Amino acid sequence: MWKFWLSALISVGHASQTVLRPEPLANFTTFRSTNSLHSIRIRQQDESICAAGSAQYTGWLDIGPKHLFFWYFESQNDPVADPLTLWMNGGPGSSSMMGLFQENGPCLINEHGNGTVRNPWGWSRNSSLLFVDQPADVGWSYIDEGYEVAHDSQEAAVDMHRFLQIFVSEIFPHKRFSDFHLSGESYAGKYIPYLGAEIVTRNQLYPSEPQINLKSCLIGNGFMSSKDITFGYWETLCTTNPGISTPVFNQTRCDIIAANMPRCMEVYDTCAKGPDLAICTAAYSVCYKGIIGLYEDESKKGGRNRFDITAPCYIDEICYKEAAYIEQYLNSPTVREALSPPEGAKEYGIQSSAVVDAFATTPEAMTSSSDHIIFLASGVHFLAYQGNLDLACNTAGNLRWANSLAWKGQTEFTSKPLLPWTSNVAGRNETVGTAKEVCVQLDGQAEASRFAFVTVNGAGHLLPQDRGDVAFDILTRWIAGHSFA
Ligand SMILES: *[C@@H]1O[C@H](CO)[C@@H](O)[C@H](O)[C@H]1NC(C)=O
Ligand SMILES: *[C@@H]1O[C@H](CO)[C@@H](O)[C@H](O)[C@H]1NC(C)=O
Ligand SMILES: *[C@@H]1O[C@H](CO)[C@@H](O)[C@H](O)[C@H]1NC(C)=O
Ligand SMILES: *[C@@H]1O[C@H](CO)[C@@H](O)[C@H](O)[C@H]1NC(C)=O
Ligand SMILES: *[C@@H]1O[C@H](CO)[C@@H](O)[C@H](O)[C@H]1NC(C)=O
Repeated sequence: MWKFWLSALISVGHASQTVLRPEPLANFTTFRSTNSLHSIRIRQQDESICAAGSAQYTGWLDIGPKHLFFWYFESQNDPVADPLTLWMNGGPGSSSMMGLFQENGPCLINEHGNGTVRNPWGWSRNSSLLFVDQPADVGWSYIDEGYEVAHDSQEAAVDMHRFLQIFVSEIFPHKRFSDFHLSGESYAGKYIPYLGAEIVTRNQLYPSEPQINLKSCLIGNGFMSSKDITFGYWETLCTTNPGISTPVFNQTRCDIIAANMPRCMEVYDTCAKGPDLAICTAAYSVCYKGIIGLYEDESKKGGRNRFDITAPCYIDEICYKEAAYIEQYLNSPTVREALSPPEGAKEYGIQSSAVVDAFATTPEAMTSSSDHIIFLASGVHFLAYQGNLDLACNTAGNLRWANSLAWKGQTEFTSKPLLPWTSNVAGRNETVGTAKEVCVQLDGQAEASRFAFVTVNGAGHLLPQDRGDVAFDILTRWIAGHSFA
């Protein structure tokens, strides 16, 4: 594999008139482009730090002052024919190592935080799988001193598009023509539509540049629309619809939320009209005080868990112990040596406060990514899947959002009920949740666009952690084009 990669890389170098010279450096193979502002540091890892079951590579892609960290796993099935899937965690500011080691990576952090165990439901079983810490400064990614981190998903998308172009043309050229899927969770409900739109637009504008063969977007418990998610608070907390025996909140609190909802919806619309930070921040505080805060203020260590209304919260912010174990593991001398971050690199952290702060200077979180998704829907398939116990990006709100999307498929989509679907990946048939989907032929498109909404009971925000088998089934059905009926 390594040899194949080198020769392919050199030939691509010729084709694009780029001279890339390998420079061995601390066991890295480094390629430095002489006529553009990027270089690549990459090394192959063995099974010792991640029991992956297929070839894996880590490294940094340097684009000017930004250094994006990636961890790439070849498909365990057929690395050449299987698609390539990118996974991004949300936040903003959350490290995708959370997805790798806690959700759908081929290896998961162990209960001591000092090693990994094989994940039988890792997504690299049937797809090559790429985790990237982005935007720069998140996780193991970093940015040179004096440069600003990204402030919104559009800036992040520009860097990630460049990353992907270099990745499929110079690092793994055999993936250049593979089907490509964009996946992620939570705030990736913003990252993915912006990146998807950037890919489609640049593919069209610059046909001679490396093309990204984007086929679909899969977003788990996505933050597409803060307004709809807030609307979903009442249904999630005040009914048994999430699949629980008694509502989480009592009548008193539910009345408060219901009474505050119309005003909150109104201020969201004011923010959306001409997104202005001051107006949108004021709108958020109205909704926080009257609705969100009733739960959020109690969401902390020992309190409520915003990612699963039935689960305890073990640590502040993220609630899951695994997050602390991942930090401990990635900062351990063994892993640090294997990854070899540059001299003087900061400690690994699961969340970048610089990115959180930068995004807070824009109204993006309060606006929706619907326009980008409508743009993408002509030609790119879209799947929203939901763990039903999540509050932060709840099913009620995201269904409302999916129904509200103004595109050609809307009438048919809203007319359909959610119907039970059965997963049988572990050898037995189990009705795991509900689903509906449409397939819509849009003008000028060769292939009909698929748009699906899939829910899973007994799982929260981190569906691949809570129901790894079902999440794997969702991925493989989706990329194979099989229905959820
Ligand atoms: C390079 O890898 C070899 C074998 O894995 C190891 O013995 C050596 O210490 C490494 N060198 C550096 C500079 O990391
Ligand atoms: C997934 O990989 C397994 C082998 O690991 C193979 O048997 C199966 O056919 C693959 N499924 C798809 C949909 O490609
Ligand atoms: C991890 O920690 C456990 C419990 O302290 C210990 O038994 C085990 O040997 C450790 N494993 C490694 C690889 O250090
Ligand atoms: C409703 O729940 C809140 C918070 O748990 C509690 O403080 C309040 O006393 C409850 N009200 C009633 C009427 O039970
Ligand atoms: C699961 O359902 C499918 C389709 O209805 C059926 O063909 C299969 O026999 C079932 N498998 C088991 C283990 O019940």
